[in-house]
Amino acid sequence: MLKYRKDLSLMPSYDGVERDYSIKVNANECNLNLPPLVEERVMSRLSRVAFNRYPNEQYDDLRDQIARNFNVDADQILLGSGSSEIIEKVFYAFGGNSRKRIVYPQPSFSMYKIYARAAEAHAIPFELDDNYDLDVEKYIATVNGEKAHLAVVCNPNNPTGNVLTVDQIETIAQRIDCAFLLDEAYVEFYGHSAVNLVKKYPHLIVARTFSKAYGLAGARVGYMIANRNVTKMIEKTFMPYHMNVLSLATADIVYQMRDEFVPRIQMMIAERKRMSGRLAALDGVKVYPSETNFILIKYDRAVELNRRLEELDIGVRYFVGNPRLENCLRISMGTREENDAWFAAIEKFVREAKA
Ligand SMILES: Cc1ncc(COP(=O)(O)O)c(C=O)c1O
Repeated sequence: MLKYRKDLSLMPSYDGVERDYSIKVNANECNLNLPPLVEERVMSRLSRVAFNRYPNEQYDDLRDQIARNFNVDADQILLGSGSSEIIEKVFYAFGGNSRKRIVYPQPSFSMYKIYARAAEAHAIPFELDDNYDLDVEKYIATVNGEKAHLAVVCNPNNPTGNVLTVDQIETIAQRIDCAFLLDEAYVEFYGHSAVNLVKKYPHLIVARTFSKAYGLAGARVGYMIANRNVTKMIEKTFMPYHMNVLSLATADIVYQMRDEFVPRIQMMIAERKRMSGRLAALDGVKVYPSETNFILIKYDRAVELNRRLEELDIGVRYFVGNPRLENCLRISMGTREENDAWFAAIEKFVREAKA
């Protein structure tokens, strides 16, 4: 009889279904590989990587570059294997037992609940309203009333796509005094980051990723920006050399060449606007406002629609067994051709369903 850690069997698993669909718009990835010029530079850099050495210099190079861009010191940046690792470690650092309370929005990134459980903390989901907006006053009251140790906000929010303003984020930062994790995984599509508030609020931790706007989901690189007293503590939770040299060198080049990504970020925003308009014109389809690279829709026959899309080898995100996202589908923006193809399938289904 194997004696696993307490409660491991009760631990929820990530509910995403991964498969290589012919049109894959289920994971908010970037559907284009690196811009050719960037790829060339990455390959040339990788050919010079010292495979035999632990990654030290590469970590510092990338960290220095990010710090310079945000006008903070390098010791205010920590890199992670995706922002997933950053978020997990923050939960770990402020959790530890059931007296440690972590407040996070719901519905939001489904991993918050899992990280809270993994950190053996007391999870307190904060319900977004019927339009999936976060009521700032209520949120502050919940965080303070619960005497939370960590408060989490995802801005823009996944999977709903909506946002808080930087002023609203600042209001929260001003009026709570626990650690405040702001997950900005999609912020490049929104354009209004709250990173600068880190200088003013020493309890604010901003998590960012290379996986979405910079199309590096496969390389697994994310980072956090925070006060140096915070980074110093969170750093203790990482194992030594937790980032591999290939990903660090790749992200370093991508970050140096980030201007090359601006046109495609703009293209994805334009596609999101175009597709939101087209979807909204379909009978019975509700489209939620989004400032990201994806769109959330609600449709009475979403289960059947999802099945039809699966048959056509089109993967969108369906939220099995989540009562707050009943009949919702989340669709990431692909290339223009891919978007036209999934839209044609949805339009046909809606038309036939009505007939
Ligand atoms: C809101 C949010 N935060 C964090 C992540 C983690 O991304 P990664 O670990 O690839 O940086 C995701 C991934 O989908 C996300 O949607």
